[in-house]
Amino acid sequence: MTAVAYLAPSEDIRQETGAAAIRIKGLEKSFGNNRVLRGIDLDIPAGQFVAIIGKSGCGKSTLLRILMGLDEPTAGHLRFAAANESEAAPNARIVFQEPRLLPWLSVADNVAVGLGEGVPQQVVRSETAAVLSEVQLAEKAGEWPSRLSGGQRQRVALARALVSKPGVLALDEPLGALDALTRISMQELLNRVWRELGFTAVLVTHDVSEAVHLADRVVVLDEGRIVLDLAVPYPHPRRHGNPALAELEGQLLAAILGDARAN
Ligand SMILES: Nc1ncnc2c1ncn2[C@@H]1O[C@H](COP(=O)(O)OP(=O)(O)O)[C@@H](O)[C@H]1O
Ligand SMILES: [Mg+2]
Repeated sequence: MTAVAYLAPSEDIRQETGAAAIRIKGLEKSFGNNRVLRGIDLDIPAGQFVAIIGKSGCGKSTLLRILMGLDEPTAGHLRFAAANESEAAPNARIVFQEPRLLPWLSVADNVAVGLGEGVPQQVVRSETAAVLSEVQLAEKAGEWPSRLSGGQRQRVALARALVSKPGVLALDEPLGALDALTRISMQELLNRVWRELGFTAVLVTHDVSEAVHLADRVVVLDEGRIVLDLAVPYPHPRRHGNPALAELEGQLLAAILGDARAN
């Protein structure tokens, strides 16, 4: 499975491929002697929102890159399954902390990049307009990226990832560079688009509050192993300041910091 085939949009971008389940078994990744992922088993049902959390360097981004086909595991299996259980390479997209927009293209043209080549202009226009209004940037379609705020740029990056209707969306600390208030409004937006579009979401974050606010399930990684897999069984959208969520945040922090003290 090459990165290129993996990231190419489906032939007919209007045909919704639907959310994909992700099955990870015995996944290992080493860089030389550095065993970064050490036997990861993770079964993610289609449409679930999973957050992955853990200290810097514990292997979060490596796991996402393998998920996206951007890197190869050293051992183990990674499989995707469509709703009808057929095995398929899903349309998988990733959003990074930096929006990585092309400064010489307008907002709309940056989003259109997510559709790839060979899509009829009319379809490009309608799909781009639809997703820009989804991220509340319809009025910025003709603007240059340099004229946008950090939060707006990150919404363009999200729109570029969503325009091809991915079955899996990976997010690597996508809100990490934003100020606290922008971050909260982006969390609301992310939650809403996930509920509306129904993709499987895998969010890497440093922020336990963000994790319990957005995810159905939070996985704590430590030194390449899963040390906690915690369900967050509360309906969406969730209110900030909910005491039940604060309790889960405490459990997650203990799991993350517990190992820090042992070291
Ligand atoms: N391409 C690479 N080559 C060598 N080592 C790498 C590479 N990518 C990541 N690593 C190492 O893997 C470990 C985990 O990195 P990463 O997955 O980026 O952690 P996280 O995202 O949790 O902060 C680190 O020790 C890092 O130095
Ligand atoms: Mg990382």
